[in-house]
Order: sequence, then structure tokens, then C-alpha cells
Amino acid sequence: MRLIPAVDSDAFAESAAAFVVDRAAKSPPLNLAIPTGRTPLGLYRRLRAEAKAGRFTLGNASVFMLDEYVDLPRYPKGSFVEFLREQLGSLVFNPHTVFNPLTPGDASRPLDYDTRLDAAGGLDLAILGVGRNGHIGFNEPGSLDAQRTHVVRLAADTLTANFADVVESQRPSLAITVGLADLLAARSVLVLIAGANKASVAAAMQSGIRVEDLPVTHLLGHPDLTVVVEEALLRRI
Ligand code: GLP
Repeated sequence: MRLIPAVDSDAFAESAAAFVVDRAAKSPPLNLAIPTGRTPLGLYRRLRAEAKAGRFTLGNASVFMLDEYVDLPRYPKGSFVEFLREQLGSLVFNPHTVFNPLTPGDASRPLDYDTRLDAAGGLDLAILGVGRNGHIGFNEPGSLDAQRTHVVRLAADTLTANFADVVESQRPSLAITVGLADLLAARSVLVLIAGANKASVAAAMQSGIRVEDLPVTHLLGHPDLTVVVEEALLRRI
């Protein structure tokens, strides 16, 4: 594992973007999995700037959304697909190259997504944020390494973190996510750790010891794992 502490949000975004731009240049066309959340916003801002300057393209990439809410009452508001349009729409929004695990109208057929991943030859690069309970994608604590795309019931803590200002009746309860099996099999993995309440997750990754109930630590031992972490989180333990 390569652990890159970042002193501030600029350094964080810069380290993450440099890594992604380098990988995209080295192995096009790229099969890429990307996350939502606050953590990657600086990275996406930099990628848009790099693309504008002609130094980066996802033109030939296949972009696999990591997850999506299944029963979001006001879909697409608050969904991954809406987030993606806003953040990377100018770079990738083409239905032929962006894949959504939520088959409209039929969330009970996640196998379709696995077939797509297999047909693409698996992931070259998985970019992952981390929930404060250690989830990656929506692989919540208790997830198994052999799982592929599946529907999950969201943990109470995840709903509190992701929908703090949304009344309960407008929150989803289920999500569909790429499973740990495909994330573990990705040729490279970039984990981004930033934000409140993630000091214990950061410390667990730094210690290098797998903790069953912290799904992100299941990645420890991956042959090409890079972790960019807010330095302040490492000091908080
Ligand atoms: C959601 C996503 C995760 C993401 C997490 C962290 O739950 N499914 O992929 O990593 O949010 O969000 P944030 O970066 O806002 O802390």
C-alpha cells in the first residue's frame, strides 16, 4: 500500500488527480469505477480543469458508477446519476460509456451489471471514497469479499451521514452496489479518505490490519493500492 498524507484539501485533490491522470495516460482505454460523496469533489474539479487544458480525457473510458439508490423517492434528485452529470458530465456523459447498476424499472436483476463488467474485462481502476463506518461503494459492514453486484439495505449511520438534512420520508432505504469481489479484482485501487468522523477508518488503513467490520480494510494486501488521506485524520488518534 502507498499511503499519501495530504496537508490540506488542495494537496489532497492534487495527489488524487495526479494519480488518475497518470493512470489514464498509461492504460487507455480505461475501465473506471468512480464514487459520489463530498470527498472526490476536489478531484473532479481538477479533472475538469485538466481536460479543459487538453491533458486528460475520459473519451475512450468506460465509466462504471459504483452504486445507486434503488428507492430514492425523488429520483433522480440526490442520485448518483444526477451527481455524475453535475461533476463529470462534460467529460463522460454518454450513455454508451457510462454504466449504471440500476436497471431502470428492474432493480432485481443486478446480474446485468456483472455481465457488463465481465464483458469489459473488469475494472482497471477503482476510485473509492469511504463512509465513516468503513463502507466502500455501498458495501456496508458485514459485506463479503466474494460478493458481486447486489442490493443492500443501507445502514442507519450511512443514511444519517448522507441525508442529514433530508426528512426521513424522503430518504431511500436500499441501494445497489458493485461488490467487493470486483473492487478487489480491480487492477489498481485508489482510496480517498477525508472528512469528519473518519479518523478511525484512516487509522485502520494506516495500521495495515484487516478488520472484518470495516470493508475498506479488506483492500489491504491488494497489489496496487494507493490511499490518499487527510493528514489531520492520522493525527487525531
Ligand atoms: C456514499 C457513497 C460512497 C462514498 C461515501 C462517502 O455513501 N456510496 O461511495 O464513499 O458516500 O461520502 P463522503 O465523501 O461525502 O464522506
